[in-house]
Amino acid sequence: MFKLSKNKEKQYLSELFEFLKIPSVSADPKYNKSVNKAANWLSKSLSNSGCNNVEIINTDGHPIVYGEKIIDSKLPTILVYGHYDVQPPDPIELWDSSPFDPVIKKTDIHPQGAIFARGACDDKVQVYMHIKSLELMIAKNSLPCNVKFMIEGEEEIGSNNLEIFVSNNLDKLKADIILISDTGIINNKNPSITTALRGLSYMEIKVTGPNRDLHSGLYGGTVANPINVLCEIISKLKDSKGTVNIPGFYENVQILSIDEREKIAKVPFDKDLFKKSIGVKDTEGEIGFSTPERKSIRPTLDVNGIWGGYIGEGAKTVIPSIANAKISMRLVPNQNWKKISSIFENHIQNIAPKTVRVEITTHHGGQAYVTPTNNIGYKAAHLAYKKSFGKVPFAVRDGGSIPIVPMFEELLNCKTILMGFGLDSDAIHSPNEHFGLFNFFKGIETIPYFYHNYTKLYKEKYF
Ligand code: BES
Ligand code: MN
Ligand code: MN
Repeated sequence: MFKLSKNKEKQYLSELFEFLKIPSVSADPKYNKSVNKAANWLSKSLSNSGCNNVEIINTDGHPIVYGEKIIDSKLPTILVYGHYDVQPPDPIELWDSSPFDPVIKKTDIHPQGAIFARGACDDKVQVYMHIKSLELMIAKNSLPCNVKFMIEGEEEIGSNNLEIFVSNNLDKLKADIILISDTGIINNKNPSITTALRGLSYMEIKVTGPNRDLHSGLYGGTVANPINVLCEIISKLKDSKGTVNIPGFYENVQILSIDEREKIAKVPFDKDLFKKSIGVKDTEGEIGFSTPERKSIRPTLDVNGIWGGYIGEGAKTVIPSIANAKISMRLVPNQNWKKISSIFENHIQNIAPKTVRVEITTHHGGQAYVTPTNNIGYKAAHLAYKKSFGKVPFAVRDGGSIPIVPMFEELLNCKTILMGFGLDSDAIHSPNEHFGLFNFFKGIETIPYFYHNYTKLYKEKYF
């Protein structure tokens, strides 16, 4: 629909680089100023695109940026959601270029070049594609329906304040469909639409033993070592078959039909490439399930971080007073994240020895989500990818989580279409995160098709 001139491409990239240069890390208060700066930048970008009623809404946490273009109340309304906050760039020393100084480099997977920066794929470039798509539609007088934008700054830390904002603004946010580009496609030759997200329960364990770090000679062998205890607890959470050993963990897990599992098996998946791309000798996981199944339709448990004791230079003989671990559980449809968090807590307390004190904190969580494929939103996305990539998109259940999506359904009674353009190899949350230029321009091409297809299908259905 929109073929960009070389000049326009250049202009877009230089604008985008300004956005990527702002270190809008939501998790760390030392970046708060930059988070506000990113919200400001976005609000200006939205206004420049032709959006009306653009506002920066302050919350108890980071601000939400809102804008809308309402052309006719009889026409359908698309609510675009995204996030301008990014993950911390650490470990910085593993980046080949500075995380907040974007550069374009060619890679094997992105021969046309990719933009390297924290937040490139997740989710700044994908948000920017939506703004530019809207700008182009408004400029060419071809915006077919109403649109509302809601871009938040706390997705990476659990969207707590967005939930409050949505509950208090049900009318303002009323829409026919929610559109999000914060996921990916299989690869640049095989487009796909994400039809499921996993739920999440994120926990922290703190094990306390003696009231201070002890000399490991004077005390070694006489008291429980919190790190040893923590390791023992963790080693009991999963067995060698990849099964999570928490009583009740699998109670409500949705079991997929053979038909649905066959569909998953038909989606292109190159196991050797998978292994090679992350540098592992082999995969592992729950017995009886394929790798694509293990990362989509099955729940799992992983330690995300573990610390305690002496980790500085050289050796220090010490029994630590405290050991900590952060543990996440990825959940699937019908598991309730609050219930899972609570059975996790009970189980840990049950198996912990009486020689230590164990404290458990729930960080955040959310439900899994499944997009139906028999509605006009999905159909519109399907046709949009088909047109821009020249290939029918696969429906793929994803392993990541966007907890606000099931929340939208609950509060706004509205379905979400997950039209992402990133690749798994784009290294989101990792050093050297990037986003392909091909993907960037494809996004700008595909999104307007969605608007047009959706409006057309909506009219056929309701007019
Ligand atoms: N955009 C990701 C989620 C994602 C990426 C889903 C790719 C599917 C494919 C999102 O920003 C994210 O990182 N979510 C977190 C959860 C959040 C509560 C911190 C996640 O999945 O770990
Ligand atoms: Mn994201
Ligand atoms: Mn993320």
